[in-house]
This record gives sequence, C-alpha cells and structure tokens, in this order.
Amino acid sequence: MDLSAETVGNWIATGVTIEAVRDEPVYLPMDPPRALARVGETIHCFEDTCTHEDFSLSEGFLAGDVIECAYHFARFCVRTGEVLTQPARRRLLTYAVKLEAGEIYVSSEPRR
Ligand code: FES
Repeated sequence: MDLSAETVGNWIATGVTIEAVRDEPVYLPMDPPRALARVGETIHCFEDTCTHEDFSLSEGFLAGDVIECAYHFARFCVRTGEVLTQPARRRLLTYAVKLEAGEIYVSSEPRR
C-alpha cells in the first residue's frame, strides 16, 4: 500500500482506503506522523506520537475508541484525543477525516 501523502487543498489524500482500516491502527507517514483508527463505521485521525514520550501510538492497542500506548500504557480517546490514563498529560491532536471514492483524506490542520 502506498501511504504517500498528497495535499489537496485543505485536505491531504492518505492513499489509504477505508477497507484498509480494520481492527488495528494504521500509521500515516506524515509530518507530524498521524494514525487512523476505525470505531464502528467511523474513521478517526490523531497524532501518532504519544504525548508522554516519543513512541508511536499505532504500535499500541486499540479497543473501541481507546488507544493504549504500548510503552507506558497511557490511554487516549481517539475521537477527542482526551487523556484517559496517565502518565500522558497532554491530549492528542485530532484531525477531521473525509472519504472520497473510498479513499481517506485528512485535514491539514488539527481540530481546535
Ligand atoms: S510513551 Fe506513551 S505512555 Fe509513555
């Protein structure tokens, strides 16, 4: 799968199809890195680097709308970015997602 990102206006084409996002988070090699996670039929996008230390959250464990960092087990809500369990203290940045012809696009700027 080609995960190269191409900017389209305010949206960035991820090269990832909706079918490619299943039970595991999907790493997006962007700057800064992001991750995609499916919760039911909805795809969520959030910053991939744990806010506790420099570790990829897409290597963590996804259960429902909660991602758990595999390093020190901080937990975050992938919908809102909220910290659910320390040691992380800062919430994750989250990004809007849209689908076009089955491909996932993410916003270039985080939600406020
Ligand atoms: S690096 Fe994620 S909890 Fe420490």
